[in-house]
Amino acid sequence: MRFSDQIVLIAGATGNIGQGAVRAFLRQGATVLITSRSEERLLQMKGLLGESHAHKLFAVPVDITTPDGCERVRTVIENRVKRLDHVVACTGPQWKHSTLVQTSLEQYDTICQTSLTAHFLLWRAFIPMLQDQPDSSYTIVTSAAGEKPTMAGLSSVMAAAVIALSQVCRNESQAYVTRVNELRIAGRVTNDEHYATLAPGQQSQVMKSSEFGQIFPAVAQQKSLRGGIVHVDMRNFQKTKQELQ
Ligand SMILES: NC(=O)c1ccc[n+]([C@@H]2O[C@H](COP(=O)([O-])OP(=O)(O)OC[C@H]3O[C@@H](n4cnc5c(N)ncnc54)[C@H](OP(=O)(O)O)[C@@H]3O)[C@@H](O)[C@H]2O)c1
Repeated sequence: MRFSDQIVLIAGATGNIGQGAVRAFLRQGATVLITSRSEERLLQMKGLLGESHAHKLFAVPVDITTPDGCERVRTVIENRVKRLDHVVACTGPQWKHSTLVQTSLEQYDTICQTSLTAHFLLWRAFIPMLQDQPDSSYTIVTSAAGEKPTMAGLSSVMAAAVIALSQVCRNESQAYVTRVNELRIAGRVTNDEHYATLAPGQQSQVMKSSEFGQIFPAVAQQKSLRGGIVHVDMRNFQKTKQELQ
């Protein structure tokens, strides 16, 4: 078990990407901190993961996209699990608003808050806990939609902004012991429950969360990966995962 004795925070744990990351780290023996704005979703998640992992799962009911939420998670880490070894930052939904003209200021603020601002807050709150920690890692999840922000209104603008933030984080991290990397996803990942409802033709168009999630421990443990970008899509997924292991 590569991650026994290690503490992992998944910001965005209840989402399509996060659920798979949680399962994969638990399977490798890690203690995993998960957060959600909803106590019900945390309970659901515990139910999905089963009793065998219950003692390794810490669920914190907060909105981790806010300064308060980050602070409360820091307090749980300091008081209960005492250390942090890995962070996966995959918070924020994929917003779908057609054009900029049709986007209200309120929607604009929400999109910024849950994507760019959330990544900024997570970085500011948790990198100080990791920066001098040997064998630690911080993985920033981004979307390849941000490479050419020409469509999809504000969501592609935000995807581009998160890619830019990731670049700055990776540059800043050159002075740190911890390894900071970006996982840039092209294509769609969906949670296992939704995947199970899809017809075979539809399943071939998406990646299943629990399979996709295996990439996260692979990135976290790969010591030669520092300040880099791991590009993943449906075609190269298995090959990329094997190369990391
Ligand atoms: N899924 C994909 O195919 C894919 C592909 C490329 C990139 N990405 C990127 O990966 C990240 C996660 O994607 P996902 O599909 O896993 O997203 P998701 O399932 O929609 O949600 C991820 C997390 O965001 C939190 N969240 C949702 N709405 C929020 C809000 N208004 N305020 C605060 N928190 C909120 C949720 O936590 P709560 O439990 O608190 O609601 C959830 O854990 C996104 O940044 C996305 O751009 C995803």
